Amino acid sequence: MKLTILGGGGFRVPLVYGALLGDRAEGRVTRVVLHDLDAGRLSAVTRVLAEQAAAVPGAPEVSATTDLDEALTGADFVFSAIRVGGLEGRADDERVALAEGVLGQETVGAGGIAYGLRTVPVAVDIARRVARLAPDAWVINFTNPAGLVTEAMSRHLGDRVIGICDSPVGLGRRIARVLGGDPNEAWIDYVGLNHLGWVRGLKIAGRDELPRLLADPDLLGSFEEGKLFGADWLRSLGAIPNEYLHYYYFNRETVRAYQQAEKTRGAFLRDQQARFYQELRDPDAAALAAWDRTRAEREATYMAENRESAGAGERDADDLSGGYEKVALALMRAIARDERTTLILNVRNNGTLAALDADAVIEVPCLVDANGAHPVTVAPLPDHATGLVCAVKGVEREVLAAAENGSRTTAVKAFALHPLVDSVTVARRLVEGYTAVHPGLAYLK
Ligand code: G6P
Ligand code: MN
Repeated sequence: MKLTILGGGGFRVPLVYGALLGDRAEGRVTRVVLHDLDAGRLSAVTRVLAEQAAAVPGAPEVSATTDLDEALTGADFVFSAIRVGGLEGRADDERVALAEGVLGQETVGAGGIAYGLRTVPVAVDIARRVARLAPDAWVINFTNPAGLVTEAMSRHLGDRVIGICDSPVGLGRRIARVLGGDPNEAWIDYVGLNHLGWVRGLKIAGRDELPRLLADPDLLGSFEEGKLFGADWLRSLGAIPNEYLHYYYFNRETVRAYQQAEKTRGAFLRDQQARFYQELRDPDAAALAAWDRTRAEREATYMAENRESAGAGERDADDLSGGYEKVALALMRAIARDERTTLILNVRNNGTLAALDADAVIEVPCLVDANGAHPVTVAPLPDHATGLVCAVKGVEREVLAAAENGSRTTAVKAFALHPLVDSVTVARRLVEGYTAVHPGLAYLK
């Protein structure tokens, strides 16, 4: 079985490969093809993978290429984890928005729109090529903004593209642990858009334990989202929001904190990862050790660098690595081996949320088997949540339209309609600012 990883020179690829190395079952991935535009990054990551594989008999064979069509041809699974514009682009997304006094963040608000505008045309090109060169392949999309990018690709690949994110699973696991349940056995009632969802219930052995959590200030104060949002607000909501909703519920505070931070998260990661890739230019450098060290540093500073300033608490070790590689592997196994399982994924709505049309990609628990991911029936969202979901989906649709028609006016509309952009004038200036710094937005006329 052949797995193609787009963005194969990316820093997190060894996590995915590590997960594959742990899979000994029949029908596992036997070939990994890494694709990246940057040959230097590809060679650095290939060396890390070679060291990871050294002691593992039957490790999946790894090859690397900068030719996209060659990488895609014959793939059974395509894992897309690209970052258009690199971490430099992410830092610019954050900086330009903060300079305008609005949220500058990787996936949410103005920064996320800029990132989406750059990424959608590239993702659509990939989707078209997959449809031509590997029509039976399943595409697992981790490329952010994951919900929007998955929807763009689904217009060409239908339900063969499935978006993943580690944040809902991480949240569910933290809640289950706080409640003394086995995180692997808990049923999480979660729905929304990517980075915009709510846990409305959490069943352990068939019983909804969320009311017990909401009623207990000590329990609420003992995990990340409890500290982030505060017990009173969680009780008012009657749900636990995804951590990314902090950017909506505490927008002013976050913008101020991010404006005061010495470096944005993107700038921090840009500098840190540049050191790793630089180190690996030395052919004698110990690749895996360098990667491990950089990763440990990244995790240690995860909160200290900027989220802490926004009020977040610590994460436990299990959640630090994100765990997205585990979600990706679980999804691949379920499809490849028809092992039925439930995962929270980004798929087309198909009637799940009544306020959205059938093709809108949402994030929801899905039953996964050899036929793909099928959203389960969930209770409707309350009005305030439906309002946010519809507003943000409306913005995503404007981003998709701008990527298709290449119109600046449509891009302005996307920014202006976002609930976290408070003025049409600001939206216009954001389009000016972003098109000035991002070559990937040159198509906007
Ligand atoms: C989580 C989110 C991802 C996001 C990442 C950012 O894992 O689910 O969508 O890209 O955090 O983490 P970073 O370390 O890059 O700031
Ligand atoms: Mn995510």
